[in-house]
Amino acid sequence: MGLDWGIGRYETTAEELNPVAAVVVERAGITSGDRVVDVGCGTGNAALLAARLGAQTTGVDPATRLLDVARARAAETGVAATFVQGDAASIPVATASADVVLSVFAVIFAPDPVGAAAEMARVTAPRGRIVFTAWIPEGGIQDCVGIFQKAVAEAIGRPAGPPPFAWHEQKALASLFGPHGFSVEVERGEIAITASSAREYLEIQGRDHPMSVAGRALLDSRGMAAVVGERALGVLEAANEDPGAFRVTSRYVVATAKRA
Ligand SMILES: C[S@@+](CC[C@H](N)C(=O)[O-])C[C@H]1O[C@@H](n2cnc3c(N)ncnc32)[C@H](O)[C@@H]1O
Repeated sequence: MGLDWGIGRYETTAEELNPVAAVVVERAGITSGDRVVDVGCGTGNAALLAARLGAQTTGVDPATRLLDVARARAAETGVAATFVQGDAASIPVATASADVVLSVFAVIFAPDPVGAAAEMARVTAPRGRIVFTAWIPEGGIQDCVGIFQKAVAEAIGRPAGPPPFAWHEQKALASLFGPHGFSVEVERGEIAITASSAREYLEIQGRDHPMSVAGRALLDSRGMAAVVGERALGVLEAANEDPGAFRVTSRYVVATAKRA
């Protein structure tokens, strides 16, 4: 079974990434009455923005706790949206029923990219579009994540596998969506990740981010957490753009797939 993104407190990262959800919703050109599906909706960032524009919105995520948070946010803000448990490999909506399929840093975690792309294509209406984001694997934050991932793989004795699917590369995406009759365009975006210091950023991640919470527990149990944490801190401090605090710019792509 994959990571349960309900552990920790993903809400902290969701707040940080909300500006990207706004970019995605804007790029998707959502208008009132559009049928929108947000795949890997988490706490509902993009889904709620789409619903606020009058879209008939369904958020889908494997993590039940995050769906509860999304429902609570919808209720608190008086927004109508539906949130259902599901996975990119099996999206619980009818074929050709979505005018817009969104996924903000979420489908990139699907273990089977080919299956996930096929599912997103299946649910998209003939004149519909798919808009999603993927991190560009460079920069201090991605390097830091890589350090923890490598350490966890070593700790559990997992052999080095093939590199992850290149969700950030237009050619790779064209090969994924092309067979379903979609052409793909990619544009770049960036977001500044900030904290009062690199150490504080690392502490917040370790406490709140589901991947870090799971990774830290494992590294702790092997007595590796302190050494790996110091290594990650060194990378973050070297990448820090703000001498008085902590700021690292992370780059991502917004990919738009439309039927050719
Ligand atoms: C980085 S969070 C992004 C959440 C949300 N889209 C946002 O912008 O805050 C990744 C999300 O992907 C979800 N996820 C992980 N694996 C998935 C899969 N195979 N299919 C669909 N969603 C998945 C997680 O549960 C989590 O909510």
